[in-house]
Amino acid sequence: MRLTTTIFNALLGAYSASANEVRSHCNHKSLNTTSFNYVTDVANQTVYEMAVKFNRGVCDIGRANLMADVSIVPNLGQTINIPGQVCHPDWTSCIIDGPGTNDCVRGGPRLYYTVNGDTLWKIAGRLNMTLDSIQSGSQYGANETIAAGQFVKVPLCYPSTCDIEPYTFSKGVYKDLADMYGSTVGQIQMLSPTYNYSASLSEGETGPSIDIAKNCRLLSSNYTILS
Ligand SMILES: *[C@@H]1O[C@H](CO)[C@@H](O)[C@H](O)[C@H]1NC(C)=O
Ligand SMILES: *[C@@H]1O[C@H](CO)[C@@H](O)[C@H](O)[C@H]1NC(C)=O
Ligand SMILES: *[C@@H]1O[C@H](CO)[C@@H](O)[C@H](O)[C@H]1NC(C)=O
Ligand SMILES: *[C@@H]1O[C@H](CO)[C@@H](O)[C@H](O)[C@H]1NC(C)=O
Ligand SMILES: *[C@@H]1O[C@H](CO)[C@@H](O)[C@H](O)[C@H]1NC(C)=O
Ligand SMILES: *[C@@H]1O[C@H](CO)[C@@H](O)[C@H](O)[C@H]1NC(C)=O
Repeated sequence: MRLTTTIFNALLGAYSASANEVRSHCNHKSLNTTSFNYVTDVANQTVYEMAVKFNRGVCDIGRANLMADVSIVPNLGQTINIPGQVCHPDWTSCIIDGPGTNDCVRGGPRLYYTVNGDTLWKIAGRLNMTLDSIQSGSQYGANETIAAGQFVKVPLCYPSTCDIEPYTFSKGVYKDLADMYGSTVGQIQMLSPTYNYSASLSEGETGPSIDIAKNCRLLSSNYTILS
């Protein structure tokens, strides 16, 4: 009887040790929940590298700063809000997973304005376009960095359209808006070409005003490409 109790207690001990272990994966007390502002001090440091450096999720940093896209490389001296640590850092939900499927942009606009660290590969992903269709007629290689502030003409689908609406951006990254409203990150960028991020809003402050493209769609399954 005593032996059984001992074994039982040992098992109970082992069980609660492993339960503690599970809990410790998400022990709020071990997290540093303080957010702070980081002024980038390394040239070409990516948001991904910052996330590794501060042990945060890259998407958590992106959303805390209302980033257009976490693959835009911040400028030296830019202030980035580093949010407090959370139990489940988000490394995936904001990531654009490479070029898309379309051979032209539905609706528009016509010109994409490059931001820091852009490549045709990234732009294709942000516009849900194939690499071939964005690359045709371009002098740039897929992963060649294009200087910020250049216009890139994108092929348009004809006939197609989007609705355009003024919008106060107060939460998330552009991918959240694009997925919710039926457009793409690139199209929202094209409507507010100089916007790329906004360091965390203080309490009560309103977010930046942008335009969003909504319900971008083909108007005929028989469309042509205006290159
Ligand atoms: C949490 O992070 C802040 C900002 O980096 C730092 O000032 C503070 O000392 C950290 N707290 C702990 C308990 O490590
Ligand atoms: C940062 O990237 C730009 C553009 O690709 C490049 O011209 C510059 O040399 C890079 N700077 C450093 C320190 O890597
Ligand atoms: C982001 O926008 C600000 C304000 O327009 C600009 O000064 C900065 O150079 C831009 N950053 C990048 C990475 O394009
Ligand atoms: C890309 O376009 C295709 C075809 O319209 C659509 O099915 C898909 O959901 C789009 N993907 C994104 C990420 O917008
Ligand atoms: C461009 O870079 C992406 C991501 O790093 C990679 O998957 C892709 O193969 C590269 N494409 C080319 C043509 O080098
Ligand atoms: C598709 O559109 C083109 C140009 O508008 C037209 O010449 C062609 O007949 C159309 N094809 C079909 C199958 O409707």
